[in-house]
Amino acid sequence: MKISLFGATGPTGKYLIEEALRQGYSLSVYTRDAGKLAAYADKIDIVVGDLETQDAIKKCVTGSAAVISALGPNSLAVKGTLPVMHGLGNIMTAMKDANVNRLIQVSTAAYRDPKDRFDFKSQAMLAVLKLIARKGVEDVQATAKLISDSDLNWTLVRIPNLKDGPSDGDIDVGWYGQRKLGTKLSRGNLAKFLVDQIASREFTRAAPGIANRA
Ligand SMILES: NC(=O)c1ccc[n+]([C@@H]2O[C@H](COP(=O)([O-])OP(=O)(O)OC[C@H]3O[C@@H](n4cnc5c(N)ncnc54)[C@H](OP(=O)(O)O)[C@@H]3O)[C@@H](O)[C@H]2O)c1
Repeated sequence: MKISLFGATGPTGKYLIEEALRQGYSLSVYTRDAGKLAAYADKIDIVVGDLETQDAIKKCVTGSAAVISALGPNSLAVKGTLPVMHGLGNIMTAMKDANVNRLIQVSTAAYRDPKDRFDFKSQAMLAVLKLIARKGVEDVQATAKLISDSDLNWTLVRIPNLKDGPSDGDIDVGWYGQRKLGTKLSRGNLAKFLVDQIASREFTRAAPGIANRA
């Protein structure tokens, strides 16, 4: 079964590609720089384009059972206005054209789910982040709103700070303020949770928070 990956050229991408291959999926991976995926060139299909290149995005998603996106601001200085949200809009258009309905997107506690309760730790971290990376926070919020307002079969996977490390399955999953969620998550645990969502309906049209068990 084929799945499409977006935003898989960053540090999480390596874990995501390896986990998806390990689970037996064939991969179409989108990038603006094929050189970043050179290590996987013989194992995956690489589609090159930016987040405005509608034809290439459609080529990437066509025939896929699901799209996983780890797209997100990767520096404190975001260029342009809501670039990730606009990119997701283009991906979602391509998904509709290609009859692909399942979208799994990385997000953060910057997006508040109606099931959340007050959670001091995540809100304090968010307040600091808004001071140093306001445009990035706004892009994450706008992206999540666009997806959660859509009629796709979506899951927003809300994460705290990432660290390199394997998947050990030792994670907490739940809603902020309802479940104690730590402030760190290994990229291996994130990758496994994202790929596991393809076959799962547990978090359809839902935005669980996940974190390594403290
Ligand atoms: N690092 C953390 O502690 C942390 C905390 C909370 C949330 N997150 C989110 O978790 C995800 C993975 O983070 P990470 O640190 O492992 O990797 P990352 O380097 O932040 O990965 C971001 C991915 O998004 C792509 N991207 C960003 N802006 C883009 C744009 N305007 N056009 C096209 N592609 C764009 C990057 O592509 P290029 O490689 O081409 O730049 C990369 O593949 C990201 O969504 C990040 O925002 C990270």
